[in-house]
Amino acid sequence: MKFHHVLLFVHLAGVIVWVGGMSFAQFCLRPAALALPPAQRLVLWSGVFRRFFPLVWLAIGAIVLSGFAMLIEVGMARAPLAWHAMAGTGLLMTAVFASIWFGPWRALQRAVAAESWAQGAQALNQIRQRVMFNLVLGALTVLLATLGLAF
Ligand code: HEM
Repeated sequence: MKFHHVLLFVHLAGVIVWVGGMSFAQFCLRPAALALPPAQRLVLWSGVFRRFFPLVWLAIGAIVLSGFAMLIEVGMARAPLAWHAMAGTGLLMTAVFASIWFGPWRALQRAVAAESWAQGAQALNQIRQRVMFNLVLGALTVLLATLGLAF
């Protein structure tokens, strides 16, 4: 087994946790949670994100470190264009996640603590939009990583 395979495993494990978690949240949890009254819904999402977001940081660390390790291993200049594009979209996804963490996620926690449901709903909506954006970017990145090599 080559070290490259270990790096690829770490890379894909991170991708599965992050992109899989986002699609579960958007397509399964969100429609089901809409049936709850605002107070319960916001407390639920706050509890979900409190557990999921630290996992996302862990996944980002694994993806970015293993990704650049593989790029350096192959040689930046020799790496296919699709891999450079993947690095670009991956870093953009990381920036979007950081904007959620430092922005609406903090606002949602403050709103839930103060029981300000209107502000909480606004923060949750911003999180949802940015997570959706990252989900699309994540799907595009997987497309680049796999089909991108065919061109
Ligand atoms: C952040 C910077 C990133 C860098 C530098 C990077 C770099 C790489 C490299 C060098 C490979 C090795 C490909 C191989 O040996 O076949 C790889 C594989 C892969 N990456 Fe990334 N990546 C990054 C982020 C991402 C993200 C965010 C995703 C998905 C959302 C992703 C999805 C994949 C997939 C699915 C593969 C497997 C492709 C294959 O082997 O056919 N990567 N990445």
